[in-house]
Amino acid sequence: MEEFIFAALCPNPQQDWRAGYPTSIELYMFNKRVKIKDVLSQEPRGQELTVMGWVRTFRNNQFIALNDGSTNSNLQVIVELGSFDESLLKRISTGASLKITGNLVASPGKGQALELKANTVEIMGDADPEKYPLQPKEHSLEFLREIAHLRFRTNTFGSIFRVRHALAFAIHKFFNNKGFVYLNTPIITANDAEGAGEMFKVTTLSFEKPPRNEDGSVNYREDFFGKATNLTVSGQLEGELAAMALAEIYTFGPTFRAENSNTTRHLAEFWMIEPEMAFYDLEDNMNLAEEFIKYIIRHALENTREDLDFLAQRLHKEEARLPQDQRSEMGLIEKLSFVLNNDFERITYTEAIDILLNSPAYKKKKFYYEVKWGIDMQSEHERYLVEKHFKKPVIVTNYPASIKAFYMRRNDDGKTVAAMDILAPGIGEIVGGSQREERLDKLEERMKEMHIPVQDMWWYLDTRRFGTVPHAGFGLGFERMVQFVTGMTNIRDVIAFPRTPRNAEF
Ligand code: 4AD
Ligand code: MG
Repeated sequence: MEEFIFAALCPNPQQDWRAGYPTSIELYMFNKRVKIKDVLSQEPRGQELTVMGWVRTFRNNQFIALNDGSTNSNLQVIVELGSFDESLLKRISTGASLKITGNLVASPGKGQALELKANTVEIMGDADPEKYPLQPKEHSLEFLREIAHLRFRTNTFGSIFRVRHALAFAIHKFFNNKGFVYLNTPIITANDAEGAGEMFKVTTLSFEKPPRNEDGSVNYREDFFGKATNLTVSGQLEGELAAMALAEIYTFGPTFRAENSNTTRHLAEFWMIEPEMAFYDLEDNMNLAEEFIKYIIRHALENTREDLDFLAQRLHKEEARLPQDQRSEMGLIEKLSFVLNNDFERITYTEAIDILLNSPAYKKKKFYYEVKWGIDMQSEHERYLVEKHFKKPVIVTNYPASIKAFYMRRNDDGKTVAAMDILAPGIGEIVGGSQREERLDKLEERMKEMHIPVQDMWWYLDTRRFGTVPHAGFGLGFERMVQFVTGMTNIRDVIAFPRTPRNAEF
């Protein structure tokens, strides 16, 4: 392909036709834009090139800091005094979009190695300084959430979304390298995979006058799908079906939970990665999850270091405002490297409760919620284990059956299930998973106990009727992972347009 274009554009390929020009082939195409990230890595030899982007600042009627989203580093563009119309210069303001052609030269000034001396400046879109809400000063994250449509234009959010992308890419790479099949499970479904009843209904029935059964209940047979449906809370159950043939699959899609949790770690719409593997037990499951998390962190460190360094500085500044005892002991990069270089701690739920009961925090009555065997650990308990006691990620296994979902495999003690949660510093639960109950009789018994409609789940039970095998899987909350890697404290800042109780703007 490249060869063909060269030949077409350069009648004599032997000639050194590239002398004095940037080597990028893009320059010969219709869109001549060179990305600022690539401009900044070029040798300044006076070569002419075209950049397009948004003005971050315009100083002394002469120096434009231009950003195009490819990196947080702006390109300094010089508009020489006297060379451009006053009326044009007036329109160069923060937020305006420009197309500039100029020569790339070494910069005599401090702070940048090179700069672009503008020959032509074209304004693509003005941004009235009286009205444009983003000014070159520090804005609070709360304010930026209110203008989430514009916050991509800040350094913080530029970095976050480039890191988020790198993590998503690494996730596909990890599973592809291992031969897992990427499965897209339905978003509209009739099942409640977690059995927690936290679902958003999907219907085309009228709210004012829905058709009713004789007993007054809504007649869903007349609804679009002929039954009651909802947005999925997890693709796991469908994932299990595919794993019973393809052996190793993973999903990566949106999930929805109508839980009324207004916290820094909960979204009503979040993305989840759910691998499901035949011929895996709980141990295999934990090993995969740990390798997976380390792999994607390593990928981010190796490929988005500039952005992570920026976010590390941001976090450092944010924490400097906190009292000493609320600051992290490690910087962001240090924390990520530490996670890569150390084994996750592995303990049982029973051991975790013992640690809590013997902790100074418990003895000094510092926990708000009760601690005893059987509780669903609260965030304060998880954070104590991870941040105070072990100071690293912890995998907690074998939880009481009573607090976990119906599909988890019953252990021989009769009280616990083969579950595993991974708890991360600063976040709490980042992964939830288990070995699945593959024994038909045990699974049916459990479903009846938990009032799960066994008849409706005939398709799920069929996998246990025909060729059942031990299998396991887990779910990683993507936004919680992005939070962990970027060091952002609020989950609303790592997804483009957060959906939370009473908030669905944009
Ligand atoms: O622990 P959960 O509910 O597990 C499942 O959904 C299983 N079906 C997973 C599986 O075994 N295939 O959710 C998994 C993860 C949690 O550990 C957390 O990281 C994230 O999903 N998560 C949320 N993230 C943001 N907002 C919420 N409301 C979340 N609820 C769960
Ligand atoms: Mg969970």
